[in-house]
Amino acid sequence: MQLIIANWKNNPKTLARAKSLFLSIRQRAHKLKNIEVVVCPPSLYLPELSVGVSSLKLGGQDCSWKDSVPLTGEIAPSMLKSLGAEYVILGHSERRRYLQETDALINRKIKSALKGGLKVIFCVGDETRNQIRRGLDGIGGAGMVRLAIVYEPLSAISTQKGSPVAPSELRQKKALIQNALKQMFSRAVAQKVRILYGGSVNEKNIKSFLGAAGMDGFLVGQASLNSSRFLRLLRACERG
Ligand code: PGA
Repeated sequence: MQLIIANWKNNPKTLARAKSLFLSIRQRAHKLKNIEVVVCPPSLYLPELSVGVSSLKLGGQDCSWKDSVPLTGEIAPSMLKSLGAEYVILGHSERRRYLQETDALINRKIKSALKGGLKVIFCVGDETRNQIRRGLDGIGGAGMVRLAIVYEPLSAISTQKGSPVAPSELRQKKALIQNALKQMFSRAVAQKVRILYGGSVNEKNIKSFLGAAGMDGFLVGQASLNSSRFLRLLRACERG
């Protein structure tokens, strides 16, 4: 089953537009089979989107590294959970790059999220092996079952033109990630953890990544902000 993460980042700019986008996707996505879709809106929109029965799951885009100390402006994993989120994205390259998030901080956030009962979408980029080693340090095999890894090289994110990585390169990256997981944990963990690709994936290029690259899913930014484009992408994934 493909895991598709819609990363809305800091979009849409109003709650009304967020609701309309979500409903439009929800209405047409309920018939999709063999595909798990997680929408990650700005967290302040979560309460408005988590109402009613939905085939779409929800996720946050970040969470705090500790639940129990005063942290101005931060959102604890327990808060995300109480707003209906099942997942949280951590280690996204934009946060690493613009907010100077380090591997050590991301490691603490992952532990905090898992402890808080969330599933983690852990993003790694160009320094894949080191980011995995440091980011997953001290996390037990039981926690790894609730974690997926997204490979997204910085140069492929938000390119607009849609010129991401070659499928053959992704196959190598997946093997590298599985090898790193095998060394850190076990062969069973390496086989179980879902490995996704993110970076300018859209409804046109998705086909080239399906099958050939052997990814377990995709993290989609820009193309998830238009319901028609996103639905086309989801249908292509469903067909495989
Ligand atoms: P994009 O974003 O699909 O717009 O490149 C991907 C991401 O959030 O990493």
